[in-house]
Amino acid sequence: RERTFVMVKPDGVQRGLIGEVVGRLEDRGLKMVGGKFMQIDQDLAEDHYGEHEGKPFFEGLVDFITSGPVFAMVWEGQDAIRQVRRMMGETDPAESAPGTIRGDFGLDLGRNVIHGSDHEDEGSNEREIGLFFDEDELVDWEQADETWLYE
Ligand code: GTP
Ligand code: MG
Repeated sequence: RERTFVMVKPDGVQRGLIGEVVGRLEDRGLKMVGGKFMQIDQDLAEDHYGEHEGKPFFEGLVDFITSGPVFAMVWEGQDAIRQVRRMMGETDPAESAPGTIRGDFGLDLGRNVIHGSDHEDEGSNEREIGLFFDEDELVDWEQADETWLYE
């Protein structure tokens, strides 16, 4: 089983979409093993989005992600990194299929509701989980329906 870092961004929090996002991931069968309602500071934002430093949208991205509270989470499941990305849709909500989170709840590239670790960026899940969570903030637990979710 694989772990991935997921976050409801400030726009999603302000729009009351935490429950919607959590519900979709739960319905899919994924298991939450960590969750934290928090405010991201400048340093954490620059670390988290370090790969985009120097790009024209970097400053706006850091301003946005620090502009209000977020809900940071760790989710576990089979192929979790890639499956969450598929549920999120494309980076640009305008290009995201209806049925995906960004395709159902967003219109604008800079306000795309959710973050999930990138399956094309090897190790980004571990890096992001480590940035946001201490080891003792993650909970190992057995999901009651696990035997019905997996062969
Ligand atoms: P995250 O889950 O936020 O990392 O999104 P992503 O992995 O789908 O996209 P990426 O990591 O490439 O970009 C990070 C964020 O920067 C995106 O979610 C967008 O909000 C923003 N972004 C990416 N590309 C552009 C761009 O060309 N212009 C602007 N204004 N914002 C961008
Ligand atoms: Mg990304």
